[in-house]
Amino acid sequence: MTATPPPAPRIVPSVLPADFSRFGEACQALEKAGVDRLQFDVMDGRFVPNLTFGADVIASLRSWVDIPFEAHLMIEEPDLLAPAFVQAGCELVIIHAEATRHLHRSLGVIRDAGGRAAVAINPATPVEAVANVLDLVDLVLVMTVNPGFGGQAYIATMEPKIRRMRTLIEESGRAIDLEVDGGIGPATIAGASAAGADVFIAGTALFRDPEGLEHAVSDLRRRAVEARA
Ligand code: DX5
Repeated sequence: MTATPPPAPRIVPSVLPADFSRFGEACQALEKAGVDRLQFDVMDGRFVPNLTFGADVIASLRSWVDIPFEAHLMIEEPDLLAPAFVQAGCELVIIHAEATRHLHRSLGVIRDAGGRAAVAINPATPVEAVANVLDLVDLVLVMTVNPGFGGQAYIATMEPKIRRMRTLIEESGRAIDLEVDGGIGPATIAGASAAGADVFIAGTALFRDPEGLEHAVSDLRRRAVEARA
């Protein structure tokens, strides 16, 4: 089977480093900088040792920009809240394979609510954990840090795992995005891209670029493309 090349790299900011007191303006600045969509890191203080925001906050931001929203639910028992994030305006909802006893059913809850479903796996979780639900997802997120905080170091040992995930996706014959999240920046995006990722979540690298958001987005995108050559 000839491998179909993955789609063009997409740069998606994590809004975690944004100034939450000016959240709407931060979203507008990211849209202006040319990002492909926005990722909202939802944390419940149980699945991860941090707490962020819920669906109401995301709903309040929907009218500020036009680009799509995705919610990365780092929460226990996601079935209960996932539909609220679809209603809040997230076209894609990502849940963790480790956060639900019945992953197949939980992904169905998102789809029944009208959202596109996606699954994330932590660094210690093998790709096989999602092999049996690829027919239900539009995206798989391979974490390159342990979830909970921005600004952590990229775990380069995830690159063979990204390659295995890319192989599983190709074998499925389905158009599934392969997203990576955590420590993605100028020094690390090439490795993740060469391994087969095509959607890149970046927080610190975008917000901390001395040349500004626009430069950070275009620079990361260029590096991701060049790494495939
Ligand atoms: C981890 C978070 C971070 C964030 C991006 O739970 O999901 O990965 O989105 O963090 P940076 O890009 O700052 O490493």
